[in-house]
Amino acid sequence: MKYSSVWTAFALAASVVAVPSRRTDFRIKESVAIPRRWVKRDSAPRDLHINLRFALPQSNFPLLEQLLYEVSDPSHESYGAHLSQAEVNELIAPHPESVRQVKAWLASYGLREEDMSCSPAEDWIKVKVPIGLAEEMLDTEYHMWDHPEGDSFVLATAYSLPEYLHEHVELVQPTTLFSRLRSMKTTLHFAPSGASSAAVANAPPIAVPSASNGQVDASCNSTITISCIRQLYNAANYTPLADTGNQIAVTGYMEQFASFSDLQTFFAEQVPSAVNSSFQVVSINGGQNDQSMLGSGEANLDTQFAFGLAHPIPPTFYSTGGSPPFIPDELTVNNTNEPYLEWVEFVLQHPNPPTTISTSYGDDEQSVPTSYATRVCSLFAQLGARGVTLIFSSGDSGVGDGNPDPATQECFANDGTNQTRFLPAFPASCPYVTAVGGTVQIPEVAVNFSGGGFSNIFSQPAYQSQQVENFLKTLPNGTYAGLFNASGRAYPDVSAQAVNFSIVFEGEPAGVSGTSCASPTFAGLVALLNDARLRNGMPSLGFLNPMLYALNGAGFNDITSGNNPGCGTPGFNATVGWDPVTGLGTPSFGKLKDLIGITD
Ligand SMILES: *[C@@H]1O[C@H](CO)[C@@H](O)[C@H](O)[C@H]1NC(C)=O
Ligand SMILES: *[C@@H]1O[C@H](CO)[C@@H](O)[C@H](O)[C@H]1NC(C)=O
Ligand SMILES: *[C@@H]1O[C@H](CO)[C@@H](O)[C@H](O)[C@H]1NC(C)=O
Ligand SMILES: *[C@@H]1O[C@H](CO)[C@@H](O)[C@H](O)[C@H]1NC(C)=O
Ligand SMILES: *[C@@H]1O[C@H](CO)[C@@H](O)[C@H](O)[C@H]1NC(C)=O
Ligand SMILES: *[C@@H]1O[C@H](CO)[C@@H](O)[C@H](O)[C@H]1NC(C)=O
Ligand SMILES: *[C@@H]1O[C@H](CO)[C@@H](O)[C@H](O)[C@H]1NC(C)=O
Ligand SMILES: *[C@@H]1O[C@H](CO)[C@@H](O)[C@H](O)[C@H]1NC(C)=O
Ligand SMILES: *[C@@H]1O[C@H](CO)[C@@H](O)[C@H](O)[C@H]1NC(C)=O
Repeated sequence: MKYSSVWTAFALAASVVAVPSRRTDFRIKESVAIPRRWVKRDSAPRDLHINLRFALPQSNFPLLEQLLYEVSDPSHESYGAHLSQAEVNELIAPHPESVRQVKAWLASYGLREEDMSCSPAEDWIKVKVPIGLAEEMLDTEYHMWDHPEGDSFVLATAYSLPEYLHEHVELVQPTTLFSRLRSMKTTLHFAPSGASSAAVANAPPIAVPSASNGQVDASCNSTITISCIRQLYNAANYTPLADTGNQIAVTGYMEQFASFSDLQTFFAEQVPSAVNSSFQVVSINGGQNDQSMLGSGEANLDTQFAFGLAHPIPPTFYSTGGSPPFIPDELTVNNTNEPYLEWVEFVLQHPNPPTTISTSYGDDEQSVPTSYATRVCSLFAQLGARGVTLIFSSGDSGVGDGNPDPATQECFANDGTNQTRFLPAFPASCPYVTAVGGTVQIPEVAVNFSGGGFSNIFSQPAYQSQQVENFLKTLPNGTYAGLFNASGRAYPDVSAQAVNFSIVFEGEPAGVSGTSCASPTFAGLVALLNDARLRNGMPSLGFLNPMLYALNGAGFNDITSGNNPGCGTPGFNATVGWDPVTGLGTPSFGKLKDLIGITD
């Protein structure tokens, strides 16, 4: 059955079927502390429908993870031997007994086989049910929950399952996901034109030994263009091909739409060879790309820089619906706050997904239930195993919370204790993605908002343990004790420029800053590296991190100055080697191309 199939309306008889009372053997499957600032409103209307997803345990995930690391490790004989969709599906398939038990349990509520929608590997089963029935099935109560910044979700703080089902179900959503997706774009401003830029235009280039031709235009110290990135990251004269099978994509959420006409204006100004070329829009879960709607600085930034750098590699913009703000229709709650899941499941079903995908959205890790974060991260691992590089912004709040305003940052643990803690970001904290932090100026220094730190959910992967240990040794004993988890997955992995990117927005030149700038920039350069691989008959790079850390700084400009304040502290320092502000540093495309085996 096709998982992404549109739901057919059916009159659900289940709500009137007498369900035997089983509550006695129910046990709580998951409960979450109510995150700060969320306010409980009315009970959710019992006749509203909800799409319940059941995640079944992927019995062979450890093997998938092992294979992911092998095909991503340049020193392993399997390097580049990515898995097929069928191979991945086989590895993640749940035990048939789990599928049988869950389906039989659903059937006991009057749900028929045709009411259940399964992923190809049957590791997800989805049913559309009235909330009243969902409450019965999960022995819980759904309420409307509001966040003061405008979000409103139908959520529960805990749910239960019959004891015997616990081993067959990993999680059920939407239930406990008090998460608020955010775009990692701190600021958008309209660039002043005039005198200062004329003065800068006449200034001599800045000498940067690692740059293309050893220098970068003086204007790049204050305003970043495609040309600046190509000079600074040593990719000035590289022209990729359109027809190697390579593809680059950026994701869009939260009704952020990418403008075709702004892209043309941007190309005319910054990438003349790309004028008249466009991008494919793929709609997921009702996502749109409405050209009459304004206010999509994020999507414009992502498409203009990723596609501008990678032209003519075929570009795709994924527009995923189902993010806030939400208006439940008369029948269905569409407002599940789980857009990554919609997106990643959709892309996993593509037989040949794009080789490089950039995402500039994220949320505080602590607002994502561990079961959910783990599951979404495991889906990212599946894409990595298939040879897809996933790039995420590291966040715009230094070591602090997702709130970019330092004055109102609230670095409190979500567990009801109100303890002060640094707040890592998800998905950047997932060990199977590459997280990109930010730099500013030339010579480059860490930008102070660059998100970085240590996961409280994911343990530290072996590929980075040496570099992280070296960094921790630079911290005076006891530094930030209790504020961060030194045994967690540490990020960012790499960084790139993140301030004053020159984009076109609503027909006008605009400047934009944030690690949202760094992610599409790094992705654009990875697409060029993949071009070099593919045209030489080599497989795509896929999951990058094992290779990046194995290079141990080679191919990167180490950033050793700056820090990322937050939570009332100065944050971490950028240091020699890896650090949780700028990772391994910013890329040198020319050097990396040689290091990954292309010596033309
Ligand atoms: C770049 O700008 C920074 C901040 O304005 C300044 O300190 C630095 O000297 C500039 N770099 C060069 C090479 O002019
Ligand atoms: C950003 O660009 C504007 C105009 O180009 C300039 O006035 C400003 O100084 C720049 N900011 C930084 C941090 O370089
Ligand atoms: C772009 O298309 C327009 C209209 O078809 C055409 O006039 C123009 O020459 C094209 N420009 C380039 C650079 O191909
Ligand atoms: C809910 O989703 C369905 C199917 O994707 C769509 O047809 C409907 O318009 C959506 N409702 C709202 C209010 O977005
Ligand atoms: C945590 O802070 C909130 C809001 O300031 C307050 O209502 C609550 O009582 C505090 N909880 C504890 C355990 O201190
Ligand atoms: C970061 O740097 C900017 C510009 O230099 C400054 O205005 C801002 O206050 C700094 N933020 C923090 C948290 O220090
Ligand atoms: C620290 O991280 C580990 C995973 O590496 C996790 O199991 C543990 O719960 C975390 N500790 C805290 C206090 O969050
Ligand atoms: C830090 O503490 C460890 C163990 O407590 C000790 O071995 C080490 O010498 C200390 N380092 C410094 C720089 O004080
Ligand atoms: C960062 O560097 C400054 C200056 O060297 C030092 O005083 C401070 O202790 C360092 N902070 C951390 C967290 O390492």
